[in-house]
This record gives sequence, structure tokens and C-alpha cells, in this order.
Amino acid sequence: MKLIIAITFALLASAFGQDIILRSGQSGQFPNFPYCLCKPTGAYRLDSTVTFKGNSTYCFKVRVSIPANCSDYCCKQADLKKLEINVKPTCNVAGVVLTATLNGAPASINPNFELAPQGPLNSTIVKITQLGLNLSNADGAEICLTLGTNRGGKGCTTLEDLCVPPAGAPPGVCSAALFSSNTDCCPSSVVNPPPPPPPPAPCFTCINISLNAVNSPVPFSFYPALCKQYADSVVANFTQAAAAAGAIITVPFNLTTCNDDLVSICGAFASEADSQLLAGVAEDLAAQFLDLVTGRFGTCPPYLDGHNVIVSITGDADSRTCLDAIKSLSCSRANVSFPKCICDTKPGATPYAALPFYTTQPGRLKTTTQYCFKFTSIPTVDGACENATIFSKVEFWGNEALRRNIRGFAIKPNGATNYTIISASWGAKGDETVKATPLNWSIDQATGSEICMDIDTSIALDDFCLGPFTNGCYLTIFDPTRKCCPMFAIVDRP
Ligand SMILES: *[C@@H]1O[C@H](CO)[C@@H](O)[C@H](O)[C@H]1NC(C)=O
Ligand SMILES: *[C@@H]1O[C@H](CO)[C@@H](O)[C@H](O)[C@H]1NC(C)=O
Ligand SMILES: *[C@@H]1O[C@H](CO)[C@@H](O)[C@H](O)[C@H]1NC(C)=O
Ligand SMILES: *[C@@H]1O[C@H](CO)[C@@H](O)[C@H](O)[C@H]1NC(C)=O
Ligand SMILES: *[C@@H]1O[C@H](CO)[C@@H](O)[C@H](O)[C@H]1NC(C)=O
Ligand SMILES: *[C@@H]1O[C@H](CO)[C@@H](O)[C@H](O)[C@H]1NC(C)=O
Ligand SMILES: *[C@@H]1O[C@H](CO)[C@@H](O)[C@H](O)[C@H]1NC(C)=O
Ligand SMILES: *[C@@H]1O[C@H](CO)[C@@H](O)[C@H](O)[C@H]1NC(C)=O
Ligand SMILES: *[C@@H]1O[C@H](CO)[C@@H](O)[C@H](O)[C@H]1NC(C)=O
Ligand SMILES: *[C@@H]1O[C@H](CO)[C@@H](O)[C@H](O)[C@H]1NC(C)=O
Ligand SMILES: *[C@@H]1O[C@H](CO)[C@@H](O)[C@H](O)[C@H]1NC(C)=O
Repeated sequence: MKLIIAITFALLASAFGQDIILRSGQSGQFPNFPYCLCKPTGAYRLDSTVTFKGNSTYCFKVRVSIPANCSDYCCKQADLKKLEINVKPTCNVAGVVLTATLNGAPASINPNFELAPQGPLNSTIVKITQLGLNLSNADGAEICLTLGTNRGGKGCTTLEDLCVPPAGAPPGVCSAALFSSNTDCCPSSVVNPPPPPPPPAPCFTCINISLNAVNSPVPFSFYPALCKQYADSVVANFTQAAAAAGAIITVPFNLTTCNDDLVSICGAFASEADSQLLAGVAEDLAAQFLDLVTGRFGTCPPYLDGHNVIVSITGDADSRTCLDAIKSLSCSRANVSFPKCICDTKPGATPYAALPFYTTQPGRLKTTTQYCFKFTSIPTVDGACENATIFSKVEFWGNEALRRNIRGFAIKPNGATNYTIISASWGAKGDETVKATPLNWSIDQATGSEICMDIDTSIALDDFCLGPFTNGCYLTIFDPTRKCCPMFAIVDRP
């Protein structure tokens, strides 16, 4: 041992310059706390919790805690004489007074700073000695250390300032060693660790597509197949965006609500931070999802006329920052050059409306296909047409050039079991108007009625019906006076 010390000393001396070593009197033999040769396991430890008592006083609790398979002197016999704490050399200023208590009574010897004799240059400890503890009385003993300054106010008064934290630990964490009288045993403890960070709370998040019929007597309703269609697209898109941003999703997004006016697609991000990875694109995503609903024809589909569509991406952000984006669009009817006469085209002008989607079925001939439009009754909005209760005829915006390709209308008022065939009549040349007339239905007959155009299968509906919507047909429902003609654009079911 002496030889090793001598060699080490010589090496250090040549490395750092002999006079520094000699002046400090520190051998540098043990580079790490507790800076001496002793057994790091033993019967004693300190609770990791340090109690702050005010007035720069910190209290450490001793525990007798013998490792399971240890039966040597340090574990079974050693006493506990002194406590050493690894501290910063800069705290060791002249004139600083430290005091300590053991179980409330002043310690028999005041604590003091010391350069660790076998530690590296300037390595410093605070030593509280003559504790007089042993296996029978140490458990639960409380050692309190009061830090002070010198008259000039210099000194370290907090553990943050005082302690050299173990590698990687933040300021305020202290390394302490509990020595036996013969200094053979020095079990170490790390005390005052910061509280563990709270586990990340997931950000539950919903993408809501909601519908508000602000100016429509025929409110549109979402239905299960449409909810699913929207959800499939939103989930794929959103999940892909999350993956691209590296945001971890712990509860996969899926369709959770499908009401008349609300589609909710919900899931959860692992944490606030994960959800924030999408913060930069959330508005764009909301806009994409809004477009999914309102941009079907490059513009609002006619069944959303008079509706406000709102897409929100919202996390359950009670006091946290989850996603929060919103986009909305108010849809209103496009102006079109139909019908050719002057009449009140406002939906709700009369108590009749067409359902938003047509259906197809085999035609009357082998070579024809029927496109069927269904009608219902609705509350009227106030106006000159509010009492127009006779469902007189229906006119369609049709392509005159294809006048020979419509083989009549199959009509079925409510209560009828079979379709009746009536011929198609065209308006004046240039009107581009084909009429199902006469009908002369009452409210009862019109509610649930059906009018099917029987068209040559070789002709695409998109060519036969005019207007801006792909595969969409405009129709007007006339009363006998021809002054009332609520107009609807009917498209295929999305
Ligand atoms: C702090 O010290 C002052 C003066 O020494 C004393 O009056 C006061 O009670 C102490 N406060 C606490 C919390 O111990
Ligand atoms: C017993 O202690 C030794 C070192 O002191 C350790 O390597 C070993 O894993 C321990 N065994 C058990 C079962 O704790
Ligand atoms: C040791 O302490 C002295 C005096 O405070 C200082 O000048 C010197 O730079 C320190 N050396 C090291 C290696 O920390
Ligand atoms: C522990 O110390 C107390 C007080 O000094 C003494 O009475 C007791 O006998 C000691 N116990 C052991 C096991 O050394
Ligand atoms: C989301 O969907 C839209 C339209 O379907 C597509 O243009 C866009 O690239 C998709 N974005 C992502 C991130 O998948
Ligand atoms: C959607 O997610 C919820 C919550 O995780 C789950 O209870 C529900 O079964 C899921 N639904 C579908 C259709 O996967
Ligand atoms: C989204 O819809 C869910 C119901 O599925 C609801 O609990 C939540 O409050 C809605 N969020 C917003 C922002 O409207
Ligand atoms: C449609 O026509 C009405 C009346 O002529 C006009 O006030 C309105 O601005 C037009 N809307 C659009 C979108 O062109
Ligand atoms: C519609 O009928 C009601 C009740 O008969 C009447 O009060 C109202 O003035 C009528 N409206 C019009 C525009 O004729
Ligand atoms: C309705 O159609 C069925 C079957 O096509 C036929 O048997 C029945 O006679 C028809 N009824 C009327 C009133 O035309
Ligand atoms: C329309 O029907 C009503 C009763 O259903 C009838 O009195 C009236 O004559 C019919 N008008 C025409 C033009 O067929």
C-alpha cells in the first residue's frame, strides 16, 4: 500500500507540479468520494428525503439497513461515528460556522469543512463526527446540519450551493458517507434527489365534424355509412400525419360518435409533447378534413346549402396544451340559370322538398335506367307561397339535345303500390327543361312520393342533367300558380 501511495504521489507530483500537491497536502489517491479506502456496503444509510427546517437547516434521517447477503463486520458490528458530505471547495471559506444537532441535541463536536486528505486537489467534505450511534440506536436518528456564512456573508447556505452532486444529478443532490469508528466501513447514500417528473398525461383528442343548419328548412343528417367514410379518411390522414411528425399515439383514433349533426373521431397522444408535434399542421389538417366534407364537388355539395360546417381538432386541455384547431365554412346555394321562369325557388317556400340523393334502378325497358327522386314535406318558411299545398308538377334542368333519350317518368305518389308511367314533356326550345306533369298531388300524396326519370342507359346522367354538380340534377316543385317553385339539386349518395 505504501508503495502504491508513493508511486501515485510521484506521478501526481510530476503531473501537476510538486509544490501544489505539497501545499494542498492532498494525495489524490482516491479520485472519487468518499476519497478513501473503505467498504462501501454496511449497516447504515440515510433516507433519500432531506427535511428543510428553515434557517439553512437540513435534516438527514439515519436508517439501519443491512443488505440481504452481507454478514461481515461492516454489516453486523460496525458503529456509526461520522457523516461526511461531498461539498464544493468554494464553500470552504474562512470563518464559516457550521452547527449540527443529533436527535435535537447539539452535536458533541461542531461540523467542519476539510480537504479530503487522499482526494484530488481541492476535494472537500463536510464532516460531522462523534455521533456515537450503533446498530441498536441509529435507526431513525436525525442529524441536522445548519449552514452559515462568515461575517462577510460568504458561504454556502443551501444544499444546491453546498453539495457536489453525483455524476449526472442536478444541483441539490448530495453524496454522503457514514463511517465506522475504524473508518473501514463507509456505506454511501445519495440524498435529496429531485422528485421524479410526473408521468406524462395523455392528451385525449377529438376531431369533430359538426353541422349547424343555420338557414336550411331541410337539415342534412350524417348517417352511419357517411360517418364511416369520413372517419376512415380522417383516421388514415391524421395517423399518417402523426407518424410523420413522430408523435406517439397511445389510443388509436377511431369513430366514436355518429349523430345527425356530429361525427367524432377520438384517440389519444402519449403526452402533451406528442400532441404538440402536430401543432404546426393542425390547422392544415382541420382544413383538409373540412374539405373532405364540403369540397366534394370542388364547392359545397347542395345538401349542405344553408349549413355551417365546423371541423375542430381539440384535446382535453385542462391546464395543458393539447391540440386546438378549428376551421369552418358556411355553405350557400350556387346561383344557376334555372328555372327559366320567375318564381320563388327558396327551399321551404312551399311545404315540399326533395331528398338530397337519388337512387337508380332498372328501367322500364331493357335499354333504360331509372333515376329516382324522392319527396317529402317540410315546414314552410313565411312568405307568399306558404299556403301552396298542391304538388302540381316537377321540372328538371335537362339537356334538350338528349330529348329523345328520356323514355318517360315512372311516378308513384304516397299510397300507390305501383309506378305510373307518364310521358316526358319538354319546355320551349332553349329552356332546357323537362317536366313530369300533371301530378296534382296533395301533401299526403307527395310525402314519400317518387319520380323516376327513365333514361337510355347509354346516356350518362351527367350528360342528361345540366348544372354544376357532377351527376347532379336540378329540379323544381311547382304549385298550380307557377309562382312557387322551390328548387333542389340532387346528387348521388356520397
Ligand atoms: C431562525 O433563527 C432565528 C434566529 O436565530 C429564530 O428566531 C427563528 O425561530 C429560527 N426559525 C426557525 C424556523 O427555526
Ligand atoms: C450478495 O452480495 C454480493 C456482493 O456483496 C452480490 O454480488 C450478490 O449479487 C449478492 N447476492 C444476493 C442474492 O443479493
Ligand atoms: C483549488 O483551489 C484554489 C484556491 O481556491 C484554486 O486557485 C485552484 O484553481 C483550485 N484548483 C482546482 C484544480 O480546482
Ligand atoms: C449502543 O450505544 C448505546 C449508547 O452508547 C449503548 O448503551 C449500547 O450498548 C450500544 N449498543 C451496541 C450494540 O453497541
Ligand atoms: C390527407 O388526405 C388528403 C386528401 O385525401 C391528401 O391530399 C393528403 O395528402 C393527406 N395527407 C396526409 C398527411 O396523409
Ligand atoms: C374506438 O376506440 C374506443 C376507445 O379506445 C373503443 O372503446 C372502441 O371500441 C373503438 N371502436 C372501434 C370501432 O374500434
Ligand atoms: C367533440 O365531440 C365529443 C363527443 O364525441 C365531445 O365530448 C367534445 O366536447 C366535442 N369537442 C368539441 C370541441 O366540440
Ligand atoms: C346570387 O345572386 C344573388 C341575387 O342576384 C346575389 O345577391 C348573390 O350575391 C349571388 N351569389 C353568388 C354566389 O354569386
Ligand atoms: C296562409 O294561411 C294562413 C291560415 O289560413 C293565413 O293566416 C295566412 O295569411 C296565409 N298566407 C298567405 C301568404 O296567404
Ligand atoms: C301492380 O303491380 C303488380 C305486379 O307488377 C301487379 O300484379 C298489380 O296488378 C299492379 N297493380 C296495379 C293497381 O296496377
Ligand atoms: C287535382 O286534384 C283535386 C283533388 O284531388 C281535384 O279536385 C282537381 O280537379 C285536380 N285538378 C286537376 C287539374 O287535375
